[in-house]
Amino acid sequence: MVASNATHVFPLELDRRYPVVVSGDGAWVEDSTGKRYLDAMSGGSMAATLGHGRRDIIGAAAEQASRLSYVHNERLTNPPREQLAAELVEVAPPGMTRVRFVTGGAEANEMAIQMARAYHVERGDPKRWQVISPAQAYHGPTMATLGLTGRPGLQAPFGPYMPAHRHIPPSTWRFDPSGEAALAALDQVLDEVGPENVSAYFCEPISAAALPAYTPPLRFWQGLAERRDRHGFLICYDEVVTGLGRSGQWFAAEKLPLVPDIIATAKGLGAGYAAIGAVICTDHVYQAFAKGSRRFTLGHTWDGAPMSCAVGLKVLEVLRSEQLIEGVRAGGPRLRDELSAALAGIPMVREVRGHGFLLGVEYVDPRDGKSFLPPTLGVARRIDLTAMEMGVIVYSTMPTRDGFAGDQTLFAPPFTTPDDDLGEMVVRFAKTVRAVAGSVERELR
Ligand SMILES: Cc1ncc(COP(=O)(O)O)c(C=O)c1O
Repeated sequence: MVASNATHVFPLELDRRYPVVVSGDGAWVEDSTGKRYLDAMSGGSMAATLGHGRRDIIGAAAEQASRLSYVHNERLTNPPREQLAAELVEVAPPGMTRVRFVTGGAEANEMAIQMARAYHVERGDPKRWQVISPAQAYHGPTMATLGLTGRPGLQAPFGPYMPAHRHIPPSTWRFDPSGEAALAALDQVLDEVGPENVSAYFCEPISAAALPAYTPPLRFWQGLAERRDRHGFLICYDEVVTGLGRSGQWFAAEKLPLVPDIIATAKGLGAGYAAIGAVICTDHVYQAFAKGSRRFTLGHTWDGAPMSCAVGLKVLEVLRSEQLIEGVRAGGPRLRDELSAALAGIPMVREVRGHGFLLGVEYVDPRDGKSFLPPTLGVARRIDLTAMEMGVIVYSTMPTRDGFAGDQTLFAPPFTTPDDDLGEMVVRFAKTVRAVAGSVERELR
């Protein structure tokens, strides 16, 4: 374990002790003391969708690197970049025709914000800049992406840099089970800012860490599509987590009754073997540039580099040849049922949600079965630390200051996890939750 007083690394949390992970194989990782952990979080961030130690992907990276590892994308292109764009368009929702590569999730979202704004400018509608998004979300740590969440705890102390984007409450069972209140909130915001000033509605189609495995009710999506038609803003999906199979489809967008204008994706595209993300847009977005200035020029040094794109190509090949997305689609509901059964009867567990291999557990105060747990109990932190002791890696989030979410755990194993390992993850996690719930109940008595 590395503590902040024994390292030159500037860690994220100075009071946390970090296990030093030295190797990984499938759904397991091992630390420097020889302790092994089941990785129910795909590398901790949901990126390692294909598990650890994949020789085929490492081989594809090595082969490409030995031929050509790097060239920049501004004046040059390369075969893996060209081919990966073509293959992504094939698996993306209908009508999506163009791909811009970036190197991660926040960059993909930033690029999507810029693309949406530039689209309107190209069409002679330069007033449109404002983005509306659900308050309870996470889109990345950069200034523009932090501006997309409505979570004061994340934005502090960077408030002075935040663009004044607007937010609506999430339509969860607690606040708005039908989705109508979120639509009314959207209408109110559109009214207040003037729909003619709105560039885009930006959201995760299925939430990741912010509200694990939550998606608004069907009525919300239908109403959102109606408002897009009426007011002319774009819809951008943050599929940084859900893209490339996590929800049991290539993109979560396939499950919803509207095709977004822009999709930002990242983690599963590199599967933990390369830093790569992508922004995929519909032809009508592209045509605004094609018929307009014919330029959309900002980008980063590593965008579309041959080696990262070669990894992306291999990832797509593995997803297809091993039928992993079909496996996630069939195995996800089974896993959710197993998790539900293992957590049954724990009064602190209110809900187990799931879409493919993206699962979420929501905790409540066991005294009434519905209020958020008191934040002072630190339940999220206790769950993660206890899980770590039990040798399973999960990721829990604390109650948010805006009052939209309480303690929750995200459970998102690699798609390649064998059934035995999935079963053992569930057993270790259920033991963890029972242990923490037991002590919480005693403390609340
Ligand atoms: C839904 C979502 N969007 C965006 C991001 C940011 O991605 P990155 O960390 O690659 O910048 C994350 C990261 O966890 C995420 O979960």
